[in-house]
Amino acid sequence: MQMTDPRPLLSGQGLSKTYGKLRAVDGVDIAVQPGEALGIVGPNGAGKTTLFGALAGAFPVSAGVIRLDGAPITTLPAHRRCALGIARTHQVPRPFLGMTVFENVQVAARAGGGLDDRASVARAAQILGATGLGDVANRPAGALGLLDRKRLEVARALATNPRILLLDEIGGGLTEAELEVLIALILDLKAQGMTVIWIEHILHALLKVIDRLICMAEGRVLAEGAPRAVMADAAVRAAYLGSDPE
Ligand SMILES: Nc1ncnc2c1ncn2[C@@H]1O[C@H](COP(=O)(O)OP(=O)(O)OP(=O)(O)O)[C@@H](O)[C@H]1O
Ligand SMILES: [Mg+2]
Repeated sequence: MQMTDPRPLLSGQGLSKTYGKLRAVDGVDIAVQPGEALGIVGPNGAGKTTLFGALAGAFPVSAGVIRLDGAPITTLPAHRRCALGIARTHQVPRPFLGMTVFENVQVAARAGGGLDDRASVARAAQILGATGLGDVANRPAGALGLLDRKRLEVARALATNPRILLLDEIGGGLTEAELEVLIALILDLKAQGMTVIWIEHILHALLKVIDRLICMAEGRVLAEGAPRAVMADAAVRAAYLGSDPE
């Protein structure tokens, strides 16, 4: 019997997003298998966050097709994609600052996860425990330190009960010890079968988690494959010229 590739959980084919003359994302093909952790690196302005916006439905793409489990979702609004299991964190965290940590996660469970009041309370409690936020559950989100703000961003995404988690530079600004906490959390999610795409500038963190790496530059995929091979790629090294990626 012939073996076939497993069907990707999430894929984008020929994805483009233009802003006037700027091709922020320019003909990108991307596919992530169920349970896989895919990393994305690339210089500032490469189009990484825009690619996440396209996948999550933050705006309509200019061209291309997005599929979840083989079914086209290209024109579905963000809340529908969320209901289908695509969750993202934002490069600049966006909690409701006046609400407590608990309320923030509960709102996500209700609005994004479609749970009623009672179920959303239970889910929020579970997620806070899993993300290490139990001790700060009753603090206003605006009073959190950086690590907890990053964890809250992940917790809010998890509250929607996703099948795939899109993480946008959640490691930035953390100390090494804090970074380790975050890496352990992502590895834990991965061990439970979560599919992850992680955009991150901090390569050594990424390398502890990912199975495969994509490097983007100027809206395109420069290289893709085994992480070490991608980092050794001549085009990738040229894109990082002057800023050694490792
Ligand atoms: N809403 C927008 N309107 C106009 N241009 C935009 C918009 N969003 C992004 N861009 C531009 O698209 C390009 C890609 O931006 P994007 O934020 O996707 O890059 P990135 O790879 O995430 O960079 P970084 O590493 O700095 O986060 C940049 O030139 C950016 O200025
Ligand atoms: Mg970005």
